[in-house]
Amino acid sequence: MGKMIIEGGKRLEGLVRIHGSKNAVLPILAATVLNGGKNVISDCPKLKDVYSSIEILKGLGCGVKWEGSTVIVDSSSVSTHYIPEALMREMRSSIIFLGAIIARCRKATISMPGGCELGPRPIDLHLKAFRQLGISVDESHGYISCNVDKINCDDIHLSFPSVGATENIMLVATLAKGTTTIINAAKEPEIVDLQDYLNAAGAKISGAGSAVITIRGVENLHDVKHTVISDRIVAASYLSAAAITGGTITVTNAIPSHIQPITSVLKDCGCDIACKDDTITIEAPPRPRPIDFIRTLPHPGFPTDAQAPIMSVLSVATGTSIIAENMFENRFKHVAELNRMGADIKVDGRLAVIRGVTRLSGAKIAATDLRGAAALVIAGLNADGVTQVDGLNHLDRGYESFDEGLAMLGANIKRMG
Ligand code: UD1
Repeated sequence: MGKMIIEGGKRLEGLVRIHGSKNAVLPILAATVLNGGKNVISDCPKLKDVYSSIEILKGLGCGVKWEGSTVIVDSSSVSTHYIPEALMREMRSSIIFLGAIIARCRKATISMPGGCELGPRPIDLHLKAFRQLGISVDESHGYISCNVDKINCDDIHLSFPSVGATENIMLVATLAKGTTTIINAAKEPEIVDLQDYLNAAGAKISGAGSAVITIRGVENLHDVKHTVISDRIVAASYLSAAAITGGTITVTNAIPSHIQPITSVLKDCGCDIACKDDTITIEAPPRPRPIDFIRTLPHPGFPTDAQAPIMSVLSVATGTSIIAENMFENRFKHVAELNRMGADIKVDGRLAVIRGVTRLSGAKIAATDLRGAAALVIAGLNADGVTQVDGLNHLDRGYESFDEGLAMLGANIKRMG
């Protein structure tokens, strides 16, 4: 599984490039099924979830090859509408393949996604929308089977702006006859990137980034080249690493507007933040100031995925902070590990009260989810003595060479295994 050994106390300094976004590339990889042709996807991060998506694409009959950080998918030879359980299990977000396969094959069978480390991950909004579009959905024996002759394009009002449901509807509606409108759509930057990729392939989608997305169906898509947007959560993680070490770093290949909900919190912590083109420079004070109240919310609110890394920063603030986690139930699992490192954090339901301590202390700790893993590595950068972080399989789902990036910034960090 691998472990990270960190000797804390080094102030981070320097420059690091942010890789392509996991949450943008996963739906785009699923969407490559639609055009029955060639897809050249640049700045594709080398992550466990990306490898899982590629295995699913290969299982469906696609040809896939890497050229550096570019993935080339040839979906002309899709030969099945079925994803077996073993492949689905690898990654919860593979539910996005459901919409892609329906769009291409008019039917799809996948094993039901179970819960995940963040608690139950329902897909009721995805399936309700499919049914509204005239797709028959059968859930039995642990599988979901969908069938459709003709998509009935319609206005779909989401009761919650789910990222995955918005993406699935976009995929299904792209090749339908007629216009589909999503109301109360998710506004995340990754939705905009999916729209940009699909439009580059010939789709007619507008409105992504706002609460109303309009998809005018087209008959087919063509070959496409697309560069994935940079990963705002990875950028947030590096900025948090600088903040917890009182450092000064610049992240490049970033999109400052995507990271604003996080940089505004870091500013409140006393950090100086300067954005220029695709770079963000952070100059952190020796200790961060506390934050009265952070609520995780759909974009453009504070992202749930940045909650754990920011909590590590706040654990050494000069006072008490409160975080409300509104998106997922089980997203405070890193708290017990941070407390093992001398943090003073109390959790009650969806609320965490973080009393800042002067400094964390090195300990042997284990990650149990993706962003929690990043948070523990970040905490180790501050800690007195040696921190050992186990459970790196979680980190590998979303961070490419995080240890190398931090080492380049001067951290004393070594990965073993
Ligand atoms: C995506 C991101 C994930 C991020 C999350 C919220 C990817 C691959 N993952 O996940 O990193 O943390 O957005 O920004 O892009 N819900 C329902 N029913 C549904 C769908 C969702 O109740 O049918 C609920 C979920 O349980 C959760 C909330 O809606 O409480 C948000 O989920 P959603 O926006 O769908 O997140 P994901 O697409 O799963």
